[in-house]
Amino acid sequence: MATLSNKRILVGVTGGIAAYKAADLIRRLRERGAEVRVVMTQAASRFITPLTLQAISGHPVHSEFLDTGAETAMGHIELARWADLVLVAPAGADFLARLAQGRADDLLATLCLATKSPVAVAPAMNQQMWANASTQNNLISLKKRGVTFWGPDSGSQACGETGPGRMLEPAELAEHAAALFQTGSLDGLQIMVTAGPTWEPIDPVRGLSNRSSGKMGYAVAQAAMEAGAQVILVSGPTTLVDPDRIQTLRVATAQQMHDTVHTHIHPIDIFIGVAAVADYRPIQTAARKIKKSDASLSLELVPNPDILASVAALDPAPYTVGFAAETNDLEAHARKKLEAKKLDLIAANPVGDRHSGFESDLNQLTLIDQHSLTPLPLQTKSRLARELISEIAQRYHEKNTTQNTRPAHRQ
Ligand SMILES: Cc1cc2nc3c(=O)[nH]c(=O)nc-3n(C[C@H](O)[C@H](O)[C@H](O)COP(=O)(O)O)c2cc1C
Repeated sequence: MATLSNKRILVGVTGGIAAYKAADLIRRLRERGAEVRVVMTQAASRFITPLTLQAISGHPVHSEFLDTGAETAMGHIELARWADLVLVAPAGADFLARLAQGRADDLLATLCLATKSPVAVAPAMNQQMWANASTQNNLISLKKRGVTFWGPDSGSQACGETGPGRMLEPAELAEHAAALFQTGSLDGLQIMVTAGPTWEPIDPVRGLSNRSSGKMGYAVAQAAMEAGAQVILVSGPTTLVDPDRIQTLRVATAQQMHDTVHTHIHPIDIFIGVAAVADYRPIQTAARKIKKSDASLSLELVPNPDILASVAALDPAPYTVGFAAETNDLEAHARKKLEAKKLDLIAANPVGDRHSGFESDLNQLTLIDQHSLTPLPLQTKSRLARELISEIAQRYHEKNTTQNTRPAHRQ
């Protein structure tokens, strides 16, 4: 069964006989792992009580457009942003007409206008209402604007007539929703990603760091979450905000990153080290700001712990993926790192080029493991991260099938 892990679905319910089926739909979406919030039209609450849908969704139901209390708790724009999918089921003829006109005269219609996420509707109405030219014109116009139609089905209707206009069964709608996201390649797995630079203090105001922005690591964590995993992101200092639905642990130095990784490493299934960890740190940190003088100043540096190698050396070790940022001889250096650190996979990326790597929104990778070399072309970091996660998921599942066992710490 395709899952909806980590997905947020806003179910809109409009006034019609099929409104009672919304309760079963919400239950089935939640069974697949989705978080569900419900918005009802005024008419819908005459057919099924908000209390029922509140109990089944586990959250208060929203319906009042101009309720200032509800607006403060979770306003209409916030709800529109929150949703990964808006699914209106049942969608009555009146609602389709309002949606086609782009009206914002109630909460549900406004949300459909305000969301950037896909809007899907499951029409439900008398077969003559469905066949009516007005409804069919609305259907054409909404489809042109990207609204997805699931159903209607054909069959016997509550009004005693037979024909197209029945709402699709809740189980079918849940299946459509899951197919829309195609999540699940990492369903049920626990993933840790490190990201960003580290900061090695010289004195209270100065330190050694590098140009890593954290964008690639955050994109990888996001893509893993979208694929259904529970994700821990261990981040060095970045200006990026903590991503939603991901447990973010902030650190500064390489030693802190090492310790935080090892505190949370069990029961991680896949470890992806994207952070640009400083190889060295000053042997000591001055307690006070070092004063300027004419004399030259030497800093003695000592090596930091190798986080990636220490994770790959664990027994049992998670599937371990490293990143190799290189300015030259990319493949040779990456292969050496793969073997020296006993990694499962390494993602090599060229840095020092203004089109990709540190600080850029674009990147390219070459994936190298014992058996293969897979180039992933220059593209946005978020698209690249999704491709990378799909490659990792495939290799992780292959490895576990070959070994015919789950890692010992997951048994
Ligand atoms: C008993 C009853 C059943 C109804 N069933 C439907 C229906 O299945 N589909 C539909 O499009 N309208 C149906 N309607 C009409 C809607 O309830 C009406 O258009 C209402 O204004 C919809 O409001 P809303 O779009 O704000 O939910 C029904 C009305 C009544 C009284």
